[in-house]
Amino acid sequence: MAEKIRAERNHTLTVDDSERLLYSQNLLTADGLKANRELSFLTNKTICADLFDVIDLLPQGVADLVVIDPPYNLTKDYNGLKFRALNQSEYLEYLRSWFPKVVSLLKPNGSLYLCGDWKCTSALQQVMEENLTVLNRITWQREKGRGALSNWKNGMEDIWFGVKNAKGYYFDVEAVKMKRKVLAPYRENGKPKDWKATDDGNVRLTYPSNFWDDISIPYWSMPENTDHPTQKPEKLLAKLILASCPEGGLVFDPFLGSGTTSVVAKKLGRNYLGVEINKEYAVWAEKRIALANANKTVQGYVDGVFWERNSLNLQKKCA
Ligand SMILES: C[S@@+](CC[C@H](N)C(=O)[O-])C[C@H]1O[C@@H](n2cnc3c(N)ncnc32)[C@H](O)[C@@H]1O
Repeated sequence: MAEKIRAERNHTLTVDDSERLLYSQNLLTADGLKANRELSFLTNKTICADLFDVIDLLPQGVADLVVIDPPYNLTKDYNGLKFRALNQSEYLEYLRSWFPKVVSLLKPNGSLYLCGDWKCTSALQQVMEENLTVLNRITWQREKGRGALSNWKNGMEDIWFGVKNAKGYYFDVEAVKMKRKVLAPYRENGKPKDWKATDDGNVRLTYPSNFWDDISIPYWSMPENTDHPTQKPEKLLAKLILASCPEGGLVFDPFLGSGTTSVVAKKLGRNYLGVEINKEYAVWAEKRIALANANKTVQGYVDGVFWERNSLNLQKKCA
């Protein structure tokens, strides 16, 4: 890939030829998987392959959590691999061709999150309901993209949450509490009720709802940024993983892209396994995973709590 010239404050991850060679040696191929399908061998690996070639080779019932960020039903170029927008029923059939197989990788008490936009969400809901018990639909308010002159700019995505067994699944809400500014501080007998006064204002720890407005998409000034066209923020993955995968558990991502799921799993002490068809993206994933050895921070998650967008000064003071 041709090297791009970047501004000084641009922290977008790059790989040079020697790193490309180094990190591509970590990648597992479909042939490597055929030779050894033991879970202990697959754990903490990136498989560089077409999901359709490897899904039947992966061990069943092993993942605590599956996070899926599939190609949305949009025409998009993933570094040469073109996904062409389909009609609704074709997209549903595309989902049905792999989704049940991915679900079979889940443990009986496992959880799954499936991401999409407004256009493909009805198909996502359908495959979720066909295969799992749907517990929620998270709305992530994301800020990106130019306004459209003849339509409303898209400012949200859906993340469907489903489980195999609604009576027994892992969910740690205490691990995903949010620190928010209190706009109307209520006092009882003259004392703050459920909030704390700080130098930077009044703050409260709250349980998160299914509306997420505290997560920005990765920008070029952020060290987690890559050139992947649809990279998810580490903070978003941190919420899913902390809530739905125990420490030491296994997170599987069948469309790994630049590796966000595996990187965050590693930072938070979970194991990971991912599949990505594009070698360049898989190499970026491996470099990010290697960097996570030295830096376990997740932007926006400090001191065991999630902070509102643009509260960096407050976060630094408390870190
Ligand atoms: C929406 S992106 C995932 C982005 C990822 N969540 C991240 O943070 O970078 C979907 C990814 O799936 C990959 N992909 C598409 N079809 C695939 C297939 N059949 N097998 C494996 N990977 C595939 C694409 O190359 C792309 O990187």
